[in-house]
Amino acid sequence: MEAIIRPNQDSAAHLVARIIAKELRAHPSLVLGLATGRTMEAVYRVLVRMHQHEHLDFSLCRTFNLDEYVGLAPSDPHSYRYYMNRHLFNHVNIDKRNTHLPHGTAKDLEAECRQYEEKIARCGGIDLQLLGIGAAGHIGFNEPLSALRSRTRVKALSPITVEQNADLFGSAAKVPRRAITMGVGTILDSRRCLLLATGEEKAGVIALAVEGPITSMISASALQLHARCTVVLDEPSARQLQESDYYRWTFENEPEWEEFR
Ligand code: F6R
Repeated sequence: MEAIIRPNQDSAAHLVARIIAKELRAHPSLVLGLATGRTMEAVYRVLVRMHQHEHLDFSLCRTFNLDEYVGLAPSDPHSYRYYMNRHLFNHVNIDKRNTHLPHGTAKDLEAECRQYEEKIARCGGIDLQLLGIGAAGHIGFNEPLSALRSRTRVKALSPITVEQNADLFGSAAKVPRRAITMGVGTILDSRRCLLLATGEEKAGVIALAVEGPITSMISASALQLHARCTVVLDEPSARQLQESDYYRWTFENEPEWEEFR
C-alpha cells in the first residue's frame, strides 16, 4: 500500500482524477470500478472537465459501481445509478450500456449478486477500482465483520453508516437498511485500487485502515493485502498517521509520481 498526502481536498481529488485519466488514455477500454459518496463528487467534476477540455475519451470504457441500495429504482434521486448519471455519465461520452450497477430492485437479489460477479468476470475483471472509506471503515458497503473473501452480496448497513448518510436522505429513518455491494474479495481481485479520503472526520478511520492491523472490523484495512493500492489523502484526513513524513518523502522521490507532483 502507498499513501499520498496532498495539501487539500482539491489537490487530492485532482491527483485521483489524473491517475484515472492516465490509465484510461493508456487503455481506452479500461474496466473501471466506481464509487459514489460526497468525496467522489470532486473527482467526477475533474473528469468531466478533462473530457470537455482535454478530450478524455470514455467511449470504450466499461464501468462497474461498488454498490446500490436495496429497494431503490434507478430513477430514484437517492439511488447510486441516479448519482452516477448526474455526476459523471450524463456529461461524458460513455456508452451507458457499458455502465453497470447492481439492480437494487431485482426480484431475486441473490441471483442479481451472482450475475454481477459474472458480468465483471466476462469483462475480464476490474482494472482500476476507485474507493472511498466510510466512518465504519467500510469500502463499498462492506460493513464491520465483512469476510475478507466476501463476494457481491446483500449487506445490512451498520448504524454508523446509516447515520453517516442520514443527511442525504433527510433523516436516518429514511436511509435504506440494506445494499448490494461488491465483496472485499471482489475488490481485492481488481488489478489496481485507488482510495480517496478527505476531511478531518476520516482521520481516525484512515489511521486504522492504513497503519492498523488487518481486520474485518475495518474492511478498508484489507487493502493492505493488495499488491497495488494507492491511498490518496488530504492533510486533515492524514493527521493521525504515524509515518506521514515517510509517505511525503516517497511521493517526492519515487520516479512513478514525478509527473503527478
Ligand atoms: C459508495 C461507497 C462508500 C463510500 C463511503 C464514503 O459507493 O462505496 O464506501 O465511498 O461511504 O462516503 P462519503 O464520500 O460520502 O464520505
